[in-house]
Amino acid sequence: MNVNIAFVGYGTVAQGFTEIILEKGSQLKEQHDLSIQVVAVSDIKKGSIYDEKGLNMKKVLSLAKNNKPLEDYPEGIKGMNSLETITKTNADTIIEVTYTDVKTGEPALTHIKAALNAGKHVLSTNKGPAVKQAALLLETARKNNVYYGFEGTVLSGTPALNLASYTLSGNKITGFKGILNGTTNYILTRMEEGMSYEKALKKAQELGYAEADPTGDVEGLDALGKVVILTNVVLGKELSRTDVKRKGITGISMDDVKHAKEHGKRWKLIGRAEIQKDSSVLASVSPEKLPLSDPLAGVNEAVNALTFMTDELGPVTIIGPGAGKRETGFALLIDMINMKYQISR
Ligand SMILES: NC(=O)c1ccc[n+]([C@@H]2O[C@H](COP(=O)([O-])OP(=O)(O)OC[C@H]3O[C@@H](n4cnc5c(N)ncnc54)[C@H](OP(=O)(O)O)[C@@H]3O)[C@@H](O)[C@H]2O)c1
Repeated sequence: MNVNIAFVGYGTVAQGFTEIILEKGSQLKEQHDLSIQVVAVSDIKKGSIYDEKGLNMKKVLSLAKNNKPLEDYPEGIKGMNSLETITKTNADTIIEVTYTDVKTGEPALTHIKAALNAGKHVLSTNKGPAVKQAALLLETARKNNVYYGFEGTVLSGTPALNLASYTLSGNKITGFKGILNGTTNYILTRMEEGMSYEKALKKAQELGYAEADPTGDVEGLDALGKVVILTNVVLGKELSRTDVKRKGITGISMDDVKHAKEHGKRWKLIGRAEIQKDSSVLASVSPEKLPLSDPLAGVNEAVNALTFMTDELGPVTIIGPGAGKRETGFALLIDMINMKYQISR
């Protein structure tokens, strides 16, 4: 199968995915009969380039890495904006990797709707649209006979959504709990070693885990978005951001951490949701003192983990990266391969 893709947004994740498809082109052809050609790239600041016959992605990647405008590419059509790239190119698959805004979902929500309604598949790592309207977008994709994949929105390339939807399929999943934010897990790990919250946060910022404004991470907003996505998609229950009780890690003191350690426990920021007997759902993000026997208690540093409660297997836990250029780029590859098998059925 030949896939013509267009990138909307060409930052870290887009470049990570480009590296993967450049390196793994022959493997993907051999293992999955998948030939991926990039026909367009459109980025708000880097510029845009379109060639219906396919772009030389080594050249495009080199321009982006050297902070040169994409318009320096020697051939092709320049200057198409995101929506023109989505609707007016011969791309059949749109890779939506612009920035995340979980409050409005924009501009990605508009991009994704335009693509699905134009009969194009969408692969995206953008949490915003999935938090706001995952069910509606999946339904729009179904109506238009196209695929919407968003594996990278939870645990980046660690396959949380696909694990639940495909591999664990046949189980009834009644709930989940997880370490859904790497930055806060890194900070709690350092605090347990005796470092103050302030120093641990500074270190997380130096390492590029935390933003200059760390509110989204430390107040649990990022984890909350993932709880909403997992609840809607995996548990099949409608839930919005305001339905989730939320508490971050800023209230955890060194004394709390020490006290937990003395009692064989460990603080973790846990995002969870569980279907109740009356079939409602209870969801929260808050610091929890876990016994060391809990698999999540052994997950340290900036690593993520997620336990699904299943009827056939009991708890099933996955542990892996929750961010990173190649790691999140890989999530797009998971979606691409799944898309291939879904649409060639
Ligand atoms: N990086 C990770 O580890 C990770 C993990 C999981 C999920 N994600 C999600 O994946 C998405 C991409 O992340 P990233 O790390 O690649 O972000 P990034 O490096 O900031 O890249 C986003 C790119 O999109 C461009 N952009 C913004 N608005 C646009 C628009 N309207 N049209 C076209 N381009 C636009 C940005 O341009 P300017 O910056 O020049 O404005 C930037 O080049 C985000 O939604 C992020 O939340 C990332």
